[in-house]
Amino acid sequence: MPETAASPVASAHVATGDGFEPPRHVAIIMDGNGRWAAARGLPRSEGHRRGVEALRRTVRAAGEMGIRILTIFSFSAENWSRPASEIRDLMGLLRRFIRNDLAELHRNSVHVRIIGERNGLDPEIGRLLDEAEDLTRENSGLLLVVAFNYGGRQEIARAAQRLAALVAAGKLAPSDITADSIGRHLDAPDLPDPDLIIRTSGEQRLSNFLMWQSAYSELVFVSTYWPDFDRSTLENAISEYRRRERRFGGLVARTGS
Ligand code: FPP
Repeated sequence: MPETAASPVASAHVATGDGFEPPRHVAIIMDGNGRWAAARGLPRSEGHRRGVEALRRTVRAAGEMGIRILTIFSFSAENWSRPASEIRDLMGLLRRFIRNDLAELHRNSVHVRIIGERNGLDPEIGRLLDEAEDLTRENSGLLLVVAFNYGGRQEIARAAQRLAALVAAGKLAPSDITADSIGRHLDAPDLPDPDLIIRTSGEQRLSNFLMWQSAYSELVFVSTYWPDFDRSTLENAISEYRRRERRFGGLVARTGS
């Protein structure tokens, strides 16, 4: 499959001991925090708090395993419909995650990028997201893409608006709008599509995550609730991915990495 663009990230490969290159780009829908908490008679906020711990473990494991890009669905455009108290909890966790973990992510050479709608966010959250991106911009380790206030359809609509503005300005002909040009106007157009998308908690749907980029991604659904996710769950999902044949619409199996 042609890559969206040739970036240093897109061309970096790290082989594992058995010669297998791990999927270059793994994306995760971190689901099941609430059910994890309910099963233990705990408040949902505790599930989210333990979800952040799972996120720390996963970032570490992904880097160690040679995954180049990890995209996480941290807050969806639709999550605003949750009760105000839960939204406050999730925003508080994001603030604390950036304040407490950013320095360590930076020390470990993690590069943070954010996708999603930035307009209309609480200004303090907006500043923290900018800070995370600015501080880590030059880092060459794992690229951690945080999908925040993100919806896949909304992202495609933003790309359409950018292209429409170019057409209105006379800089682009309508016939120049192609799948390729739409891909080049998404929130992170330089990144290769995810090879593997994992959803935890047993739910089997994409819920508006990476709708454009997931066209040829392998989907792996695991029953583990997100707070229990760890390196071995990630390894098992990757083992499942390795058993898949990726043909990208052709007849011949090809590796996506
Ligand atoms: C799904 O669980 C998870 C979320 C809505 C958000 C994921 C957030 C975190 C892991 C913590 C915050 C993230 C950062 C980057 C600080 P759910 O509440 O939908 O669970 P349920 O389906 O069992 O109710």
